[in-house]
Amino acid sequence: MSLPVGVLISGGGSNLQALIDRKQTGVLDVTIQTVISNNSGVKGLERAVEHGIPTQVLPHQNYPDRQSYDRALVRALRDAGAQAVVLAGFMRLVGPELLAAFPGRVLNIHPALLPSFPGLHAQDQAAEYGVRLAGCTVHFVDEEVDHGPIIIQAAVPALPNEGAEALGSRILALEHRIFPQAVQWLAEGRLEVQGRHVVVRPGARPVATKDALPPCLIFPSLEEGF
Ligand code: GAR
Repeated sequence: MSLPVGVLISGGGSNLQALIDRKQTGVLDVTIQTVISNNSGVKGLERAVEHGIPTQVLPHQNYPDRQSYDRALVRALRDAGAQAVVLAGFMRLVGPELLAAFPGRVLNIHPALLPSFPGLHAQDQAAEYGVRLAGCTVHFVDEEVDHGPIIIQAAVPALPNEGAEALGSRILALEHRIFPQAVQWLAEGRLEVQGRHVVVRPGARPVATKDALPPCLIFPSLEEGF
């Protein structure tokens, strides 16, 4: 049975679009019951409407504290029939009430190789720091910021002086690949959390050979003989 999910967004919704696209190609078996944004007028809401997905705007400013906002989110998600929650560029912290309402069923995508660069503007942090490898992470959400058990990560070389924007767009392209995959694993009940570790149980679909894990990723490349 298709897993009913609620998707929370704050902005452009390109990760939401990636989920919609993978649903359309038939590899992602979830039903997006609702898209909830804390900001009105954002592109992500338009994307949902274009695909006939019900939307809701819950402006966080309308709530006196984090707890009451969390409660409103839980109510909206439950009323929509969601059984899992996907944070697709949702730039608010979710609190204990929401996590308790959907235990082990809240996923987040973050544009950095956690535990490096949690929080806001991760791509800028990575570009400024001068890392050689950057990337993105899908993880279970816990009560700390960008902290829960890691499900999947993807890395890209960070090119010298390319700047945060170019790096960010190459990271985003990978986000669009790994996020739907992680959500599908959740939908198939294949994710087992063992402390900080997440085991992905084998499934029926073969590994895409063109993306098979390289033995290692080194950037800049080593020269002959090293
Ligand atoms: C994405 O890069 C996502 O990883 C990031 O916001 C962007 C949303 O883009 N999320 C975070 O930084 C959360 N800590 P989108 O609206 O186009 O999907």
